[in-house]
Amino acid sequence: MTEAERIGTAIPRLLAWHRVNRRPLPWRGQPTPYAVWVSEIMLQQTRIEAAVPFYLRFMERLPDVQALAEISQEELLKLWEGLGYYSRARNLQKAARVVVEEYGGALPSSAQALRKLPGIGDYTAGAIASLAFGQPEPAVDGNVLRVILRLTARRDDALEPGTRAWVTQLLRGLYPTGEDAALLTEGLMELGETVCLPREGTRCDACPLAALCLARERGVEAALPVRSQPKPRRVEERTVLLPLCGNRWAIRRRAEKGLLAGMWEFPNIEGFFSAEETAALLTREGWEPLSVEPWGDAKHLFTHVEWRMRGFLVLCPREIPELTWRTASELAREHAIPSAFRAWTEKIE
Ligand code: ADE
Repeated sequence: MTEAERIGTAIPRLLAWHRVNRRPLPWRGQPTPYAVWVSEIMLQQTRIEAAVPFYLRFMERLPDVQALAEISQEELLKLWEGLGYYSRARNLQKAARVVVEEYGGALPSSAQALRKLPGIGDYTAGAIASLAFGQPEPAVDGNVLRVILRLTARRDDALEPGTRAWVTQLLRGLYPTGEDAALLTEGLMELGETVCLPREGTRCDACPLAALCLARERGVEAALPVRSQPKPRRVEERTVLLPLCGNRWAIRRRAEKGLLAGMWEFPNIEGFFSAEETAALLTREGWEPLSVEPWGDAKHLFTHVEWRMRGFLVLCPREIPELTWRTASELAREHAIPSAFRAWTEKIE
């Protein structure tokens, strides 16, 4: 049996399984293209159960593309707070503005046009095209990759872009249209999320494709997909300052480019410094700190960087004008501070 024949045989079985096992989720069942888009962007880095309350709140405040295009960046980031990877929210808004200006507020239906919008890559374009418009377009995420590489027992590296391209091409030639296109996209993801689980966790006894699965036949399902070692994260040590003057805390905005672009943060400097070194440094900067005390350590993993942070509470006699000063409740209400700083935002609250 060729790989295409194997997958072609699997598709109707998967559709039948998914019709029965489909979990009810708020973005399912006749969703608008906008609902599919927002949910798929949220689900890229967030688990389904975690995303649901964010999704509901987001859609209530921003029910359509127009509303998303018009909301202030500050409020948008506040709605996104807790989901992380804020560039997703910013791209969502950039794309919404293009959709309003160039498409009269309605998302285009072809994967090709969707892919031109900010923040929409092959995966999201395929997901919107198939889920919302019934186009024969696959959407290959990590779950779908695992399902297909096991079904065909291919040892291609799941982290190589060529592997995803191969799986996408193979599926595209076999994709149904209309309602079945949506069911297939969803069903492949659902199988990967609930049954065809990574490593030893896999539940082949519950799998509608078990009899067709070459990895299972060969007893290698737990070893697939093959993944090359990702590059280790670069470690950065940072000293984080929590400046307090009266009842107001100081924050500042990050640069518009790079990690956490444009987000608010507590002032911080590269390297670990002791309380004495920090006090001396701030005195040289003209802060005249009244005291500098250790205020907790934290660690945060980004995709390519790990921050190890050491915090200091810095009591200031006056508000340094280069910083933005806010009370604890203003911080909580008005500013999205990245979760990298959660240890301190929680303390402040
Ligand atoms: N993961 C990402 N998008 C999904 C969807 N639409 N259904 C199930 N799992 C998903």
